[in-house]
Amino acid sequence: MSIDYTDISQTYDDYRAFSKHRAEELGDFGGIREGMRVLDVGCGTGNLATQLLDLMNLDVVGIDISLPMLAVARGKSLEVICTDAASNRLPFRDSCFDIITSTYVIHQISNLKLMFSECHRVLRDGALVLLTSSHEQIENYHPVFKRFFPGAIDIDKARFPDIPVICDLLVTTGFQDIKHKQVLGDSIVIDEEYLRKVKGKYVSTYRLLPQSEFERGVTELETYIRSLSQPESAIWRGTLICGRKKG
Ligand SMILES: C[S@@+](CC[C@H](N)C(=O)[O-])C[C@H]1O[C@@H](n2cnc3c(N)ncnc32)[C@H](O)[C@@H]1O
Repeated sequence: MSIDYTDISQTYDDYRAFSKHRAEELGDFGGIREGMRVLDVGCGTGNLATQLLDLMNLDVVGIDISLPMLAVARGKSLEVICTDAASNRLPFRDSCFDIITSTYVIHQISNLKLMFSECHRVLRDGALVLLTSSHEQIENYHPVFKRFFPGAIDIDKARFPDIPVICDLLVTTGFQDIKHKQVLGDSIVIDEEYLRKVKGKYVSTYRLLPQSEFERGVTELETYIRSLSQPESAIWRGTLICGRKKG
C-alpha cells in the first residue's frame, strides 16, 4: 500500500526521530563496521543514515520513492536516488554494497520478493537488516491503538508481513543465517505533544483509518490525556531481522 508523504515530509523528522541508541543497536545486530558501503532502502528523510554516519565513517546511499522525503534527505547532504523498490531493478551493479538497511518500509512494498532478490543481487557478502513490527507487537504494544483506534490493528496486521513470513521470504530469495530479535524503543509520553503528532497523522496507519473513526479516536484520546494528573508513558517495541548473503 503506497502512502503519499508529500504533506508530512517537512515534519517527519520532528515526529519520527531515529535515536542514536536504535541506530547503534541496528548496526551491532547487522554487523555494520567502519568504512562499509551501505544502502538504505526507503531512506525517507535520511534519519537512520544520519545517525549511522554520526556513529562511524561509512559510504551511505539512500533510495526512496518519495521526492519530497528525498529533498529533506538531500538537505542533510546525503547521497540519495529516487526509485521504486517495489517494481524496479535497483539502480546499482551486482555485489556493490556491504550492508543494506530498511527500516519501517517493507509493509509498504507490494512486491517484497523482488525487493529482497534485488537486495541479494546488489549485496557483496553481507547483511540485509530490517526493522519492522510483528503482529504481536502491533496488537499488544502500540501505545494507543488498542484503546483508542482499534481498527488500526487490523489495518496494520494486513499490511505488515509477520516475522515468520519475512524470514521464509529471506530464505527463498537466497539469504542465510536469518535471525531476529525484539527491540525496545525509548519511552513515549502520552501527552499533548503526542496528541499533536497523532492529529498530524504521523504514522501512516492513521491515514488509512476511516476519517470518522480517526476523529472519534482523537477525541477520546484528547479527553483521556486531559483527565490525567500525570501523563502516562509507554514503551514502543519493534523487531530487527537480519539475513546474510554469503559470497
Ligand atoms: C515509514 S517511512 C520510513 C522512513 C525511514 N526508513 C525511517 O525509518 O524513518 C517509509 C518510507 O518508505 C518509502 N517507500 C514506500 N514505498 C517505497 C517503494 N516502493 N520504493 C522505495 N521507497 C518506498 C516511503 O516513501 C517512506 O519514505
